[in-house]
Amino acid sequence: MQVLKSLNITNSHLSSLVLAGGKKYNLRILARFAFRACRTCSEFNMTVFSSISKTLCNSINRKQPKSCSMLTLLKCMSNVPENSVYGGPKPQNPNQRVTLTQLRQKYKKGEPITMVTAYDYPSGVHLDQAGIDICLVGDSASMVVHGHDTTLPISLDEMLVHCRAVARGAKSPLLAGDLPFGSYESSTRQAVETAVRVLKEGGMDAIKLEGGAPSRITAAKAIVEAGIAVMGHVGLTPQAISVLGGFRPQGKSVDSAVKVVETSIALQEVGCFAVVLECIPAPVAAAVTSALKIPTIGIGAGPFCSGQVLVYHDLLGMLQHPHHAKVTPKFCKQYARVGDVINKALLEYKQEVTTGVFPSSTHSPYKIATSDVDGFMHELQKMGLQDAASAAANAAEKMEATKL
Ligand code: KIV
Repeated sequence: MQVLKSLNITNSHLSSLVLAGGKKYNLRILARFAFRACRTCSEFNMTVFSSISKTLCNSINRKQPKSCSMLTLLKCMSNVPENSVYGGPKPQNPNQRVTLTQLRQKYKKGEPITMVTAYDYPSGVHLDQAGIDICLVGDSASMVVHGHDTTLPISLDEMLVHCRAVARGAKSPLLAGDLPFGSYESSTRQAVETAVRVLKEGGMDAIKLEGGAPSRITAAKAIVEAGIAVMGHVGLTPQAISVLGGFRPQGKSVDSAVKVVETSIALQEVGCFAVVLECIPAPVAAAVTSALKIPTIGIGAGPFCSGQVLVYHDLLGMLQHPHHAKVTPKFCKQYARVGDVINKALLEYKQEVTTGVFPSSTHSPYKIATSDVDGFMHELQKMGLQDAASAAANAAEKMEATKL
């Protein structure tokens, strides 16, 4: 009820949702209320929409009736085609999205949090299907997707394209988008504006920013105050390679280790919901994890973190690709050798096209009736296209002969 009150939805609004003569709800009215409430929130996304709709249902009759399932409600407002030639995206269960509350619960129970990067629709779908908790659209896209040597060149507009594609595919994980280098360092205002774009235009639920300099802490605070969930990132912060002197592990001296702890605490104090710890010794990560009341997500930081993150291409072992072979870090365990599988498939395809094995009749599914072939040949002959007519006849014969 608190949510409803804060959205100015009163009891009289609620009672007007109940249809006369029965306990069924008018779904359209209900959905319209949810939309109105979302507008009051000055943002609209499925998570907000579904949680408001659910609260509305619950507040009328604690138990949500079958006739008013969320899916029915969403279908009522959805413009997603239910059946199309190519299948199309299926309506998702809006209750699936991992929330900050769920992450906090996991953290409190000591259950490890899983995070993986994704950059496009297919990787988003894969993470979704694997039930990964957090999907990070990382600026590592600059290296593993765009082929740059560092994360510096990727632009905000490029990141937003990746974010949107991932958001279409990853329906259940919490979506976090990296603020790329150059998009948030100049001023707090720039940082907030960029973070807003990542949510509004990229469809993300949260942002991640690197570093712990005072200006970054101020930026993180301002973004949190703007209503955006922020994940910090300390230790090796790849956007700072210019001052770090390369991709170097951090926290290896007393001063550096203490700095990692202090920075993490500062990020927690301004409201970050989690902190990524990259490339630091395990005891330092353990100290940070113990000192914080928010989850730490480690990458090259040993096992004593609240969760782990790896880069999609690294963990899948896209090793055969010379670029990935070059950039796969030491700490990354490869759970597959997808690069080998891709290479094998491409070689096989090339071989089959070259030798005419592909496409066979099995992969030539569009048929023309024999009588129509005859009619077609006749028309071709009338057009003076003798060779074309013979080609059609030969092809029809061959397709018939190779039919399984
Ligand atoms: O961009 C990225 O992929 C990251 C992870 C390494 C945490 O920041």
